[in-house]
Formats: sequence, structure tokens, C-alpha cells
Amino acid sequence: MKSILITGGAGFIGSNLVELLIEKHPTYKFVVLDLLTYAGDIHNLKKVQNAKNFTFVNGNICDRSLVERIFQHYYINNVIHLAAESHVDNSITDPGVFIETNVKGTFTLLDVAYKYWMDKPFQLKNGFEESRFLHVSTDEVYGTLGKTGLFTEQTPYAPNSPYSASKASSDFIVRSYHHTYGMNTIITNCSNNYGPKQHDEKLIPTVIRKALAGEQIPIYGDGSNVRDWLYVKDHCNGIDVAFHKGVSGQVYNIGGKNEQNNNDIAAKICELLDKIQPKEGSYKNQITYVTDRAGHDFRYAIDASKIENELGWEAQEDFDSGIEKTVKWYLEKYKE
Ligand SMILES: NC(=O)c1ccc[n+]([C@@H]2O[C@H](COP(=O)([O-])OP(=O)(O)OC[C@H]3O[C@@H](n4cnc5c(N)ncnc54)[C@H](O)[C@@H]3O)[C@@H](O)[C@H]2O)c1
Repeated sequence: MKSILITGGAGFIGSNLVELLIEKHPTYKFVVLDLLTYAGDIHNLKKVQNAKNFTFVNGNICDRSLVERIFQHYYINNVIHLAAESHVDNSITDPGVFIETNVKGTFTLLDVAYKYWMDKPFQLKNGFEESRFLHVSTDEVYGTLGKTGLFTEQTPYAPNSPYSASKASSDFIVRSYHHTYGMNTIITNCSNNYGPKQHDEKLIPTVIRKALAGEQIPIYGDGSNVRDWLYVKDHCNGIDVAFHKGVSGQVYNIGGKNEQNNNDIAAKICELLDKIQPKEGSYKNQITYVTDRAGHDFRYAIDASKIENELGWEAQEDFDSGIEKTVKWYLEKYKE
């Protein structure tokens, strides 16, 4: 029986993932460990809170004795690790907590898992032969692209922000536990996610919230920065596929083949709001350009052919329908 520790399960991607996994794998047990920082919200888990195979623990992934107790108490034999400080802007103003959570936290989880699952390098304890540690990371570790090209799993790491540097560091620690100790690890590097339950501070919720409040919609620089947007449920399916079918020690890039610059995103959302919740004049009139983010990466785009060809995953959501669902979800949220 799989007993899976999911870290960061009260956040945006984590909570969408927990919902999906509980539905798809009713025989597994799930333990969510989340510190409920400003970015986590226990209400994100309200759909699953009464499920028999779900437990929530409020705590810090850096707290080694807590993590050890969780492994022992719940007989944790798999980890899907999402807990992180995740907002690039915050990493520019306050990088310390990114190093603490993303680097030390990942190390703590890995090292506890190693000692709980393995007797020594390359020797698993009885009952833990299938134990796997899946680390959820980002395409930002690869740095920035020019107008052309795609990130592959072979692209050299070149992180540019304290956030991406902390995630790159955590990826390297995971990699080292595979190579040095023979731990069964998977790393997934995903592009920008969008969808329900993303924190208000991120681009898409900010555009919707400011638009509805009649405030200026802030867009960095000239709005030409490009991201490869993936619907969160597609990402969660990718994690599920990589967790079950991925080859130990491998890295899988997950992306949506859906490049949009910030101007496109803001315009699309305003057009949808003009249609769904019309007012006098277009919401587009509220778009305002603000001083660019320091060190702002120009473009990210993923080549996801490895996970598509080797594991049979594919993004299902079309951007037009995904963004419409997302806007409608936030309209409900901001009504409350
Ligand atoms: N959002 C994206 O577009 C995106 C893209 C690629 C990869 N990722 C990665 O996916 C993961 C999840 O991202 P997200 O957007 O859901 O983030 P999020 O900020 O919405 O959620 C992070 C969660 O981690 C929890 N957390 C933070 N510090 C913790 C700690 N010390 N101990 C325990 N819990 C802690 C928070 O309370 C929150 O619930 C992150 O590792 C991120 O780097 C995100």
C-alpha cells in the first residue's frame, strides 16, 4: 500500500494535485505536510478534507524531527515534494527564506527518506523496494531563452533569480541522492501554471483582481516577456504519470506548448471579462506598464517531447478554455 507524503499540499499546485490523486488512487494513503505560510490555504483542501485516506499535518519541511515522526507514524514510503517559496518577486526582496525552505527543506526531506527507506547506499530496506521521491521543480532553473529555442532536459542550468537558484540547488541535491545513494528519484521541471487556487500575488490572479476592482492592472516593462502556460490539472496529470511510470534518476520537462507574452495574457483576460462581466469601457483601459522586475528573464519555453514520447503524457487543456475556466473561478472567489 502506498503511503505518500505530499509537501506543500495546501498551495496552488499541491491542492490541485491532492484532489486529483485522491480521486485517481483511492487505495493510497495521503499525508499532506504544509506550513500554511501566506501562500498556503487550508480551504484549498476542503474537497478532500473528509476523505478517509487523507491526513493534514501543519508543519515545516525544515523541522527534521517532525519529518522523522511523520515518516514513522504514517509509514511513509513515497514522497511528492512541492513545498517551496515560489514567488520570484519575493525572492528578490527576501531571498533568505527561499534558501531555507527550498534548499534546506528539500535536503531534510531527502535525507530523512534516505535513512528511513535504505540501510546504506544502493540497499533498500525490506518493504521499501518501490519507494520513490518525486521532486517538483521549475523550468526557471534553465535561465532565459532568446526569441527562439526550447528548454530540454539537457539544457545547462543557468538560474537567474534567487528563487530559481534555490530550486536549481534543490534539484542538484536530489540528483546527488540518486547518484550517491541510489535513491529512486524523479525530478519534473514545469513551465508556468495557471488555473484555480493560485495565490492572488501571481500574474493571472492579479490581472483579474485589479480589473474587477477598477484599479490599474500592472504589467512589468513593456509586457513582452514570454512564458509557456500550462493548465494546472495538466501539470498534476504529468506529476502522476512521472510518479508512476518515470524511470528512476530521470528528469522530465512538463510544458504546455502555449507561449504567451504578458500583454497577450492581460488582453485575453480583459476580453473575457468584457464579455462575462461587461462595464462601461473595456477592462483593457486599466492596463498600466510598471518598472520591470530586476533581472527579468525574457522567455521560457519547454520541449516536453521526453515525457510525451516516453511516458505518454500530453497537455489536454486548450488555452482558450483553460483561461475562461480560470477567470470564472476567480470571479466566484472575488465575489465572496
Ligand atoms: N506555480 C508555478 O507556475 C510553478 C511552475 C513550476 C514549478 N513550480 C513548483 O511547484 C511547487 C508548488 O508551487 P505552487 O505554485 O503551488 O506554490 P505555492 O506558493 O502556491 O504553494 C507552496 C506551498 O508550500 C507551503 N510551504 C512553504 N514553505 C513551507 C515549509 N517550509 N514547510 C512546509 N510547507 C511550506 C506553503 O504553505 C504553500 O501551501 C513549487 O515547488 C514550485 O517551485 C511551480
